[in-house]
Amino acid sequence: AQKPVIVQGPMPIEAEEFAQKLDDVKEETSGSFVFYKGTLDGYPVIVTKTGKGMENTAAATAIAIEKYEPLAIINQGTSGGHDADLNVFDIVLGKRTVNIGSLKTANKEEGEGIDPTIWKPMDLMASEGSAGEDPDAENIRYYDGNQELLSSANAVKDTYTKGKVVEGTIGSADVWNNEVDRINWFHEKYGTSVEEMEGAAAAQIASAYDVPFLGIRVLSNNKVNDGQYNPDTAAANQEYVYEVVKHYISNS
Ligand code: 5AD
Repeated sequence: AQKPVIVQGPMPIEAEEFAQKLDDVKEETSGSFVFYKGTLDGYPVIVTKTGKGMENTAAATAIAIEKYEPLAIINQGTSGGHDADLNVFDIVLGKRTVNIGSLKTANKEEGEGIDPTIWKPMDLMASEGSAGEDPDAENIRYYDGNQELLSSANAVKDTYTKGKVVEGTIGSADVWNNEVDRINWFHEKYGTSVEEMEGAAAAQIASAYDVPFLGIRVLSNNKVNDGQYNPDTAAANQEYVYEVVKHYISNS
């Protein structure tokens, strides 16, 4: 049998649009996760409504890999801009995805305060030892987007007319940053193009199982250039990702 392509979306508005485009859909649930198993051009595709955040996404990814043995996983949805050149409705293809919530603070005694600007990145996958003590763990871990998925995404770029499609770095954490100085800090230190709350969790689990992975994120807001939140971006992104999946399966 053909291995399915999995398309993940956190919120109903980020998953149900795509699920409705599939043929012969059968709905399965596991815990709070909903899997819409169907076909696209006769090829098996499973849309997952994961729920928001890193934990839901990690669990939904591991369950999907164990249950469905996917050919590839695309994590997609909305995001907030970290780059003033990106506008609401622009799409970022995750050439890299990074956990921006994995941090180690400085050593400070009582009364010495809190200073996030000198916090260091922390890589929990650097070793099996203590991340608090291991100097190798003071490192940013990037997960590379899969080349074939990126090629398909680039090949259908012109089908998207609501904004531009660029390659970039997707940062993830269970945090919504509204401090422009903090956003700029991530943009400079990590090279982030956008932030969201799921991509790096899915990328880490996909990598644990060697499953090809790509994050595809539309900007629904951009604090850096006053881009106002627009929920219609969620549907626009799914329409684009539909074209990406079509291209990818026609080549596999
Ligand atoms: N910061 C963090 N998450 C965002 N999302 C959209 N914009 C942002 C932002 N600026 C996405 C997350 C999460 C939900 C809150 O929307 O991925 O699923």
